[in-house]
Amino acid sequence: MKPLNLLEYIYALEDNRFDLIYPPEIRELSERHGTPVKVARRAAEFLVREPGARVLDIGCGPGKFCIVGALATSGKFTGVEQRERLSDLARAAIEQANIPNAEIIHGNVAEINFSNFDAFYLFNPFEENLETTLKIDASVNLSGELYETYTEHVARQLAIAPLGTRVVTYCGSCEEVPLGYDCLESSLDYGLKFWEKTKNHPVGVSPQDAPATNNKWQSSSDAAFEEKL
Ligand SMILES: C[S@@+](CC[C@H](N)C(=O)[O-])C[C@H]1O[C@@H](n2cnc3c(N)ncnc32)[C@H](O)[C@@H]1O
Repeated sequence: MKPLNLLEYIYALEDNRFDLIYPPEIRELSERHGTPVKVARRAAEFLVREPGARVLDIGCGPGKFCIVGALATSGKFTGVEQRERLSDLARAAIEQANIPNAEIIHGNVAEINFSNFDAFYLFNPFEENLETTLKIDASVNLSGELYETYTEHVARQLAIAPLGTRVVTYCGSCEEVPLGYDCLESSLDYGLKFWEKTKNHPVGVSPQDAPATNNKWQSSSDAAFEEKL
């Protein structure tokens, strides 16, 4: 792993420069499964509403979102990752860069208590259970049933989170985001959606059952969104 020139990496326009923090065999994975640096910065800025805000990256992989978020904001970033190899890499990168406001939990999100966090980030973590081309490796069990279990767990936890809770989803179907969350902004090109909880709804109602007016979609034009990145 190479020593970090932190600012150079998080403000690098090319992700392959950030990815130099990882061993060669992980760079390709980071390119495919890691959030681009500028998207991570933008998402982190939305999620950290005040200094010390606690952000959970659900399925943090080798930690790219947590590292960029911790360096770019005053939030405290925790990543949970079920693959030991990836959580070890994420921890090593954070330790080597001496980033005090980022930490990694090796485990399954189904074991995580969401009440310890103020905001949540999801880069399509459960999709590999459904889509074999997205499969990272064979080290964990994958199935349609697990997709349902994890998605339902996250949706239930978010449903009981306090009003004002913020969520960013990147590239996913957003099935994990329950009723009561408004999509404040989205970019179709970037597949990014910025959510905030504005209403309490009974737990277990799927977003598909939402009244048409539930989510106030405001898709930014690509140019307008690009300006904010
Ligand atoms: C697309 S990667 C996202 C990486 C990271 N969030 C980022 O943006 O750079 C999704 C990760 O979620 C992890 N994951 C999937 N299901 C999980 C679960 N139930 N608990 C913990 N991690 C999980 C996968 O192992 C994979 O590393």
